[in-house]
Amino acid sequence: MRSWRKAARPQVTPSPNIWHWPELFEIENRAQDATGVLWSALRERCDWAGRDVVDIGCGDGFHLPLFAAEARSVIGVEPHQPLVERARHRVAGTPGVDVRQAPAQQLPLADASADLVHARTAYFFGPGCEPGLAEAERVLRPGGTIAIVDLDAGSSPYGDWMRADAPQVDPAAIESFFQRHDFDSTSVDTLWRFDDRESLEAVLGIEFSAKVAARAARETTGCTLPVRYRLRTRRKPTTLLTP
Ligand SMILES: C[S@@+](CC[C@H](N)C(=O)[O-])C[C@H]1O[C@@H](n2cnc3c(N)ncnc32)[C@H](O)[C@@H]1O
Repeated sequence: MRSWRKAARPQVTPSPNIWHWPELFEIENRAQDATGVLWSALRERCDWAGRDVVDIGCGDGFHLPLFAAEARSVIGVEPHQPLVERARHRVAGTPGVDVRQAPAQQLPLADASADLVHARTAYFFGPGCEPGLAEAERVLRPGGTIAIVDLDAGSSPYGDWMRADAPQVDPAAIESFFQRHDFDSTSVDTLWRFDDRESLEAVLGIEFSAKVAARAARETTGCTLPVRYRLRTRRKPTTLLTP
């Protein structure tokens, strides 16, 4: 039996979508950011060409090859063993990419070894992620950037569906948490584009309860979905100049 202490302080945040339906999550990942605005916004804030990248909560490694196309090195960090295996399989044969099993709170990485620490819809959801923020700061080089990409729970329609399933989610509290931690935040309006309606509805089914997924399907037409993200970045200061 799990003790209440352990249950109250989980090391790993369950992600039913990718844990239980990785094939559907792959379809979701392919549909996301169909116009590329999120990648452009990220690149504007922290270009990774020729740099060392860490992707925390990398899941099955969907974004690792995309970073690897230009980065010097890429390390995916993921605590859930089955996803670690899938990520390793995905990047097998891709030079300069490694996948390590660990949570954000205990990065198996050297101090000052990364230029970009990236996390997409993983672990850094607001209050409670301070240990991961401290670890990211430790592994960043001076001048490096942490970039946290997350769904905007305050937006319509996607955020409305999120809050219908999780009324405890407080977008204003999340925003002020990251403000207090000196992040610059910006909204990025993306489009998810699916090959067919069946795929769109199947993905809604892994993101929401049956009731909310049915509502989301009713409120959506065609094969696209507007989804707003928050992109939060913080640059680690370079060495202080002394007089
Ligand atoms: C929704 S998935 C996103 C995966 C990936 N970033 C993507 O966009 O394809 C969230 C991931 O965070 C991972 N995760 C959960 N708890 C974590 C923790 N404490 N530290 C790092 N990652 C964690 C989950 O196992 C899951 O792979």
